[in-house]
Amino acid sequence: MSVEKQYSPISSVWEGSDADLIETMLEFYASIVPEPILDATYNKGRFWKDSDRQVVSMDINPKFNPMIVGDNREMVGVPDTAFGTVIYDPPHVGPQGRDKSSKKFDEDFGATAECGKEQNWSLSYLYPPFLVQAKRVLKPEGLLLAKITDMVNSHRAKWSHCDFMRMAEDAGFTVCDLIVKVRTGPMVSTKWSTAHHARKRHCFWIICRNSASCER
Ligand SMILES: C[S@@+](CC[C@H](N)C(=O)[O-])C[C@H]1O[C@@H](n2cnc3c(N)ncnc32)[C@H](O)[C@@H]1O
Repeated sequence: MSVEKQYSPISSVWEGSDADLIETMLEFYASIVPEPILDATYNKGRFWKDSDRQVVSMDINPKFNPMIVGDNREMVGVPDTAFGTVIYDPPHVGPQGRDKSSKKFDEDFGATAECGKEQNWSLSYLYPPFLVQAKRVLKPEGLLLAKITDMVNSHRAKWSHCDFMRMAEDAGFTVCDLIVKVRTGPMVSTKWSTAHHARKRHCFWIICRNSASCER
């Protein structure tokens, strides 16, 4: 008896949680065992609250008690070809201000990386050194799953997801897919008076494979 293969693609638009999407992506894209997983921007580990996955946590901020306190652009002491998956959810805005409440916001959401004139009002400079390390610590065929959000900073639209995709290809990854993740409540500030841009109600998950091809 022949078993018929079923065509069951993943949707390019996701309206559920990040955690459910990560699990779906691991099941759909992994061509090798996806564990151990390195979460290179762990923060409070919100992605793994109800997960049984074997996750190694890394964060530059010791306040979050990650297994590895370190800069994901260096990954000091992390061995080569050790992980089946790397997860990356870098800061997507720069520091929000100097008062106490914005400082707490900055720390809680990791908005601590400089993003001013010197950085061309963008956070994309964080990506290339991270991508070199992600490629080094991933096994061949391993997955890099990155959550990237575009931003408007100092009246300039910054297309971080385009930068990330180009930089990932430059680093030797194959960019396999782009999934739009929709959320319900975009952040709005009382400081804003005139709208010049669409309020972003989405981010992107970018799926990269440490191999020359995307086919499983
Ligand atoms: C947007 S948060 C991640 C949120 C996390 N995915 C969660 O669901 O809880 C970004 C995190 O990246 C960390 N981070 C920023 N730059 C880093 C770097 N160079 N190396 C390691 N971690 C970094 C921040 O401290 C922050 O905790």
